[in-house]
Amino acid sequence: MLVVLVHLLFYSCVLSKVYKLQLTHKAKHIHQHKHHKRQNSASLINAQDFDFYVNVTVGNGQVFSLIVDTGSSDMFVRGPGCVSNSGDNSCECDNMLPNPTACVLNTFDSSLSNLSQTAYVQYGSANVNFNIFSGPVLFDGFQITNFPFGSAYQISGLGNSGDGILGLGFNSISRVAWATGKDASIFDALGLTGRQQIFGTYLSNFDFQHFVNDVVGGEITIGGIDNTKFTGPITYVPLISESYWKFNISTLTFSFGGSQPLYLGSSGGGNAISDTGTGQIYLDNSLADRVNSFLGGVYSNVYGSYVVDCKWQNSKIPMIFTLYGVKYSLSSSSYIIPYNGVCLSGISRNGADGHTAFSNFGQVWGRSYYTIYDKFNGRIGFAKAV
Ligand SMILES: *[C@@H]1O[C@H](CO)[C@@H](O)[C@H](O)[C@H]1NC(C)=O
Ligand SMILES: *[C@@H]1O[C@H](CO)[C@@H](O)[C@H](O)[C@H]1NC(C)=O
Ligand SMILES: *[C@@H]1O[C@H](CO)[C@@H](O)[C@H](O)[C@H]1NC(C)=O
Repeated sequence: MLVVLVHLLFYSCVLSKVYKLQLTHKAKHIHQHKHHKRQNSASLINAQDFDFYVNVTVGNGQVFSLIVDTGSSDMFVRGPGCVSNSGDNSCECDNMLPNPTACVLNTFDSSLSNLSQTAYVQYGSANVNFNIFSGPVLFDGFQITNFPFGSAYQISGLGNSGDGILGLGFNSISRVAWATGKDASIFDALGLTGRQQIFGTYLSNFDFQHFVNDVVGGEITIGGIDNTKFTGPITYVPLISESYWKFNISTLTFSFGGSQPLYLGSSGGGNAISDTGTGQIYLDNSLADRVNSFLGGVYSNVYGSYVVDCKWQNSKIPMIFTLYGVKYSLSSSSYIIPYNGVCLSGISRNGADGHTAFSNFGQVWGRSYYTIYDKFNGRIGFAKAV
């Protein structure tokens, strides 16, 4: 398989307009009973407790703070009369924020039209039903004139931080695109051509113990990449398809504290997706068990994660993953997640075995590796984040 090492300078002179958006991060506010995470084969918005948000302006100046999700392809915001099938707080506005955004779509906005179509999207343990509207969507000065997006009338299991989701996967898995026949993935709808069909995500590390909501926590660059946000070479892996940002992990191995490499690609390959909308790295259950056995981790259904001894946090023993012969290192401060007085492992179960599901490379990976989503060349790149 192809692994290409490229030094970056290459891109900077080629690109014209590059869009840079600041991301903020927030803790999710989910009622305690929603913490019983149901693992699921398409785990997208799973056991994460933090998300990264971006402001998007819809219609006549309605600003929404949306979860940035490379693991889905639709955009939706909370709509009028939203109810939660599970009776949780997913439809409530998050009034705790210092600068509240619109929260609920004003459908009387004359620039919006109701397309009288509906769609349903499942996000791991969460799900959303929406009416499809179309209208102007503004993204760092870049306007998409008639962008179709969801106005949610039912949301369950998502929690109330933020106002919706911005999917950055491909059109081919967008439910709005299926329903309307239009480009509904923002990235496709931007109509970028040639080498500009690229974006980069920088998810900053944060101090879990002294977490502050709504401060700048990263950046997404569209139409180019930001080479001030990483150091060293970029390693690329080929994309399997234009659906999710999906790649083959049949060569993946793991080692810890100088151990022999543990083969994680064993039973016939397996695919992974790069997913900013998911907190942890999710592997097949038995593989996650083996990785966590190095930490003495015990799987907890309450947390949907392995509880581990907090001593690992400052151990400075990295987790080493190897993919296509390239080593990726996760520091102990990034794979240990302190949470409500316990420590959780950054590696968890995807709810499947025998590679019936794909693995998720979520924020635990993305905070350590600046990620380059390169549609033009059909590949995904990782470089050590600054
Ligand atoms: C997002 O929008 C809100 C409301 O308009 C604003 O107060 C906040 O500063 C914006 N955040 C960013 C990162 O642009
Ligand atoms: C949009 O149209 C659908 C179908 O005609 C309708 O059920 C829904 O109430 C409309 N939504 C709003 C917010 O007007
Ligand atoms: C991944 O690549 C390996 C080696 O080329 C191949 O045998 C396997 O079928 C691929 N797996 C998937 C799920 O695409």
